[in-house]
Parts: sequence; structure tokens; C-alpha cells
Amino acid sequence: MANFYPDELISEIVNANDIVSLVSSYVSLKKSGSGYMGCCPFHREKTPSFHVSGDKQLYHCFGCGAGGSVIQFVMAAENLDFPDAVKLLAERAGISLPEMGHSKDEADEFYKRKRRIYEMNRDAARFFREVLLAPEGKKALDYLTGRGLSMKTITSFGLGASPDSWDSLLKRLLSLGYERDLIVESGLCIRNEKNHVYDRYRNRVMYPIIDTRGNVVGFGGRKLEGDGAKYINSPESIVYNKSKTLYALNFAKKSTHNYLILTEGYMDVISLHQAGFTSAIAGCGTALTQDQARLAAKHSKNIYLCYDSDEAGQKAAKKAIELFSPLECNVRVLKVPDGKDPDEFIRKHGSVAFENLLTSARATTRYEIDSIMAKYDLDDIAQKVEFSREVALLLAKLKSAVEQDEYIKYISLKANMSSDALLSEIKKLRRRTLKNEETSLMKRTSGVQTAPTAAKKSQQRLKKAECGLLATLLSERTAFEKLSGNVSEDLFTYEFHREIYRKASEMYESGSAFGITELSHLFVGREGEFSEVFLQTAEIADVKTAAADYIKVIKEETLNVQIAEATASGNVNLLSELLKKQKSLKG
Ligand code: UTP
Ligand code: MN
Repeated sequence: MANFYPDELISEIVNANDIVSLVSSYVSLKKSGSGYMGCCPFHREKTPSFHVSGDKQLYHCFGCGAGGSVIQFVMAAENLDFPDAVKLLAERAGISLPEMGHSKDEADEFYKRKRRIYEMNRDAARFFREVLLAPEGKKALDYLTGRGLSMKTITSFGLGASPDSWDSLLKRLLSLGYERDLIVESGLCIRNEKNHVYDRYRNRVMYPIIDTRGNVVGFGGRKLEGDGAKYINSPESIVYNKSKTLYALNFAKKSTHNYLILTEGYMDVISLHQAGFTSAIAGCGTALTQDQARLAAKHSKNIYLCYDSDEAGQKAAKKAIELFSPLECNVRVLKVPDGKDPDEFIRKHGSVAFENLLTSARATTRYEIDSIMAKYDLDDIAQKVEFSREVALLLAKLKSAVEQDEYIKYISLKANMSSDALLSEIKKLRRRTLKNEETSLMKRTSGVQTAPTAAKKSQQRLKKAECGLLATLLSERTAFEKLSGNVSEDLFTYEFHREIYRKASEMYESGSAFGITELSHLFVGREGEFSEVFLQTAEIADVKTAAADYIKVIKEETLNVQIAEATASGNVNLLSELLKKQKSLKG
């Protein structure tokens, strides 16, 4: 569902929720300068880098880059999509939500249906649990305890059993007053072509899937015996988006561990939790998605991949590594020995042994090197050459020279080849990629290399001043009005800042509500970058003086940056021109 609320309504809702009081209910904040600071709730940290500004009604974490308005905060903190976040904030502020592109009735109807399905799922979970504890559930209960689960674990995960019947659940739900259509919509029952409705899950152990707000969104049902799929899972519904749900994240997010263990199966997760590894999670019967990886990364940057050691599991691990790679996580791969899954391993060898696996888990690069190595016969020279190319490709991507050096040592030892040969492969690759990059980019990097500190400082001051100017311009409508004569788009050197300025001008001219919050809604998906711009600056005492100071710094530092670049590239003509310009600016 798209953003179907009118902008004015969103502004009203945002303005009715003070960000400082909202964030305070999640994070303990301390006054700092003109705003507040605390430890970021979205990544683990010990020294606070999470800023909240009451004036600007924005938050930003200078550690992980998360940021935005109250909407993004609620989306991230509660794992909600946009409409639900708006809804929650509206409720919090006591604002009733009228139409959403659809009519008001349709909107009301939609949310009512959603609530009813949550309730229905909860009633279904209750029913499955009753069955598990009744005589007819004995087989299922024996199965679970036979797999080593304690009653406490069974209860805390809300496990249950579906009876060996076609309509027990249906009857229960009907008797509770749920309509047949809604029962089918929830996925708990199925309607066939003959319009006959029957239970989806029969004679299975039931694992409820609970989201981070504690709602039952779906089920996984494992067969006890006979034919049929090993697991049957709930279909997607208006309450269940599989690619954004992680099994047991509701527990893991409360865990005190500073890492997550990502496994493949429901049973793996449950066994791990029972053994004290309370931050284990899994997908819900689907391959890991980018959204799930992002969701996991939001909770912890330390990820252990703990997949089955069979071929399918290893393939899945590889895919997972790819999905985590843009998220800057510390991903480690945990190898469970003897072709076993984590559940079996823990039952056989206990939690201390598993703890040892965690400690010895290999960083992904090591893991990838090993998998590449396993593909080649290194006694064959041609294959060895191929191997060195492929592995060089991997090492060339590493940013740290120390890290690279460590892996070169490792490979030369294991593959019996000289470090120098490997290093020259890597260098060859580096040269090739460098050539391919745009010349402008090359110039910029070489510029930074020749005069690192001065040029870098200028860049930083320039960036800060541009941010400050934008914050000043947007502090109120009259500020923009007063300053618009002295500012133009090309004053800004960063494209993102130009874009902000452009959109602010449009907003100003259109005469609609004007402010940082309103503007932030035009930067959907880039809220972190956006909030960073506005949280650089402290309070603005006088708009005109502040702006004049910022403009002065921008002009000076833009020149300094250009001069550094011209110096680095040896462009003498340009350099003398720039120096002249600098003189006249100072004089
Ligand atoms: P596994 O077969 O490894 O299941 O599949 P498991 O959780 O270890 O279960 P046990 O130990 O055999 O009881 C891993 C995951 O893949 C999904 C489920 O989410 C399962 O937990 N799956 C598997 C299905 O969705 N359908 C299937 O038929 C099989
Ligand atoms: Mn298993």
C-alpha cells in the first residue's frame, strides 16, 4: 500500500507528536547543546551518537546513519510500514484518520479487517495450544518433548497442534463469531472450487509466527507422520509479509546478546533459545530476502550465519553473505560439523560446544576463500592459475591492507603459492578497475592523497557550512524569504544539498506548509542522509548573521577544495586563476 494519506494530514500527525517525548519512551536521552543525545536504539553502541533535535523534530545517528522524523523513528523502532506508522502516531496523538485515497469507510474497513485477523490468529493459536495439551494432542506433545523441548520452551514459543480433522478449527472460529470470508482471507482455512471451506493445517505441530509487536501473523505447521509437505506455512495476507518477517525476532530483539544467529529452521531457532542462545532467528519457510537482511542488520551488526552443512544450506549461506554485504555487517559463518543442523548439534553436544562454534566462526572472507579453494584442484597448474585470479578478485575488494595481508598469508600457506605472486595478481586487478573509473573521480582521490589533511578539512568545513545554511534557510518561512536574494542553487557544491535547496524553493513558492518536516517527506528512503544535513548545526540566534557566516565559509572552502584539486592534477593555468579569485575574495 502506497502513501495514500494527504500531505496536510501527515504534517498534522507529525506535528502532534513531539519527537523528544516519543524517542524518550524508547531511549534514555540526555540534554546536549540545543538537543538531546543517547545511545542509538538501532545499532549497538556504548558511546552515544544518537541525536534528537526538538527544534527540527528530527533524529539522526552519526554512528549508523539512521535518521528522519517521528515517522521513520516509529517505522524503525516498531518495524512498521509507512501507513501503519502514521496510524500509530495518529492514535498516539488522538487524531482520527479519515480517508486514505480510498473512502473513509474503506479505510476503516481495512483496519478493522486487519485487527480481526490478528484476533483470529490469536484465537487459532489458543485453540492449537488447547489441542496440544488435550488427549488428542498427545502424539504432537510426545513429538516435541521427544525432540528435547521443555514445557517452558513449548509455552514460551506458543507451540500447539492441529487436530486430525478437516473442520475443527473452522468450527471454533465460526463459533467465536468470525465470518467465513475472513477466515479464508487469514489463510487459516482454504476454500476449494466447490466453495467448500476446510482447515489448512491437519495433524501437525503448529509454530505461531509472531511479529515484533507481539501479533500472531501466521503459522508454520510441521507434519507428524505420513505424506504431504514437511511444513505447511501460512500464505501472505494483509497482516503477514513473509519477506519482512523473521521468526523469533520478537524474542531476539529483547536478548542481551550483541549478535544475531541466523538459522534456517523453526526448530533450530527454538533449540538455540532453549540452550540460552536467545538471539537466534530464522526466515519463515522462504529464502532470505534483502528486506529480512536489512531488518536483521537493524538489530545487530554482528551476524552469525548458521545454516545446515548440506549443499543447499551452504548455497543459502552464500546468498545470505551477498545480501548482507551492502549492510556493513560483521558477518561470520558458523560451520556445524558432521552434516548436522544446529538443532541436532546442540542436542548432541550441548551449549558449550555450540558456544565454541560461535567463537571459532570464520569471518566471511575466510569462508569465501575456503569455498573458492574447494572448487579447484590445486595440483593442476592451470587450475591453480584460475584459482589465484578468482581469489585475487575477492581480496582486491578488501579495504584494509592489513586484512588483505592476513589473507594473502593464509592463502599462500594453504595453497602453497608465493605471497608475491598473489599480490601482483591483486595489483593487476586494481590497476584495471582504476582505469575504468571515471577520470574525475581519479583526480579527486589523488587530490585527497597529495594534500590529505588540508583538503579534507576544507571538505568538512564546506559540508558543514552548506548544511548550516540549509538549516538556517529552512528554520522558518520568513528566513527563507529574507535570505533568498543571497542564495542560489549553485552556491552548494554537494548535489544532495542542491536537491534539498531546489525542493525547498519549490515548497516555498508553492505556498504550502513550509519546514524541515514537510521537506523530509520528499526524501523518502533517504531520511538518514536528510536528517544528517539538519542535525549538524546548533541553534540559530540570528538568521541573517548565521547565513552570512555560512555563505562566507562556503565561498572560501569551495575555492580551497578547487585549489587542492588543481594542485594535485598539476593544472597550472586553473591554479593561478583560482588563486587570483581567492585574493579578490579576501581583499
Ligand atoms: P528443515 O527441513 O531444515 O526444517 O527446513 P527444520 O526446521 O530443521 O525442521 P525439523 O528439524 O526437520 O523438524 C528448514 C526450514 O525450511 C522451511 C521451514 O521454515 C523450515 O523450518 N520448510 C522446510 C518449509 O517451509 N517447507 C518444507 O516442506 C520444508
Ligand atoms: Mn532440522
